Amino acid sequence: MINQDNIIIKTTEFVKEKLASDSSGHDWWHVHRVWKTAVYIGEKEEVDLAIVQLAALLHDIADWKFYNGDTTVGPQMAAEWLGSLHVEVPIIEHVCEIIQDVSFKGAGVPTAMKTKEGMVVQDADRLDAIGAIGIARTFAYGGTKGHPIHTPLIGPELHQSFEDYQSSEGSVINHFYEKLLLLKGRMNTETAKKLADSRHRYMELFLEQFFHEWNFCSAGHHSELPISPAK
Ligand code: NI
Repeated sequence: MINQDNIIIKTTEFVKEKLASDSSGHDWWHVHRVWKTAVYIGEKEEVDLAIVQLAALLHDIADWKFYNGDTTVGPQMAAEWLGSLHVEVPIIEHVCEIIQDVSFKGAGVPTAMKTKEGMVVQDADRLDAIGAIGIARTFAYGGTKGHPIHTPLIGPELHQSFEDYQSSEGSVINHFYEKLLLLKGRMNTETAKKLADSRHRYMELFLEQFFHEWNFCSAGHHSELPISPAK
């Protein structure tokens, strides 16, 4: 690749501008964290770090969640961008394949990556979907999409197809069971598995506390609380 550093710098500027106004948790700082985490993991693996960096930087350039479920827009936009920088075709194809395959598509849908570079980027993206940051992003995303925080009468659903997962309108709390708590078991690299442990535990603690507070109110343990008219 001609002048690799320059291409990466230009790509950071391109992505920063594209995602400047995002408030769904898929903003530039998400991409920045995924990029840096991917480099951290990638340095411990035998991978092409230029591919890893370009795929990490461009992985959310046009997420299907914001393009009516169309998974082809992201890779297309990335291909056009890299083409404009005269990046070689095999590199563009590899980066676009990673962008196409990287995202979670439902509890029962396998999302195996074809290359080591793809595995690294997927791990980095998934690490940013769990832990304290994952919790913050999940609620931000739910707010953007108009999803309720918690619906005690409607439980989680383990989606068996990408179509079902895409059309899910479930609560944010259900999303923990439908995706976030499953990610630890779906990490590709040993480095990511280690990093996932404490983040996973933190989400479990958060849910424990969330339900503790929720149940405290709904069980009416606190005598000063007004009795819910729904009872
Ligand atoms: Ni992402």
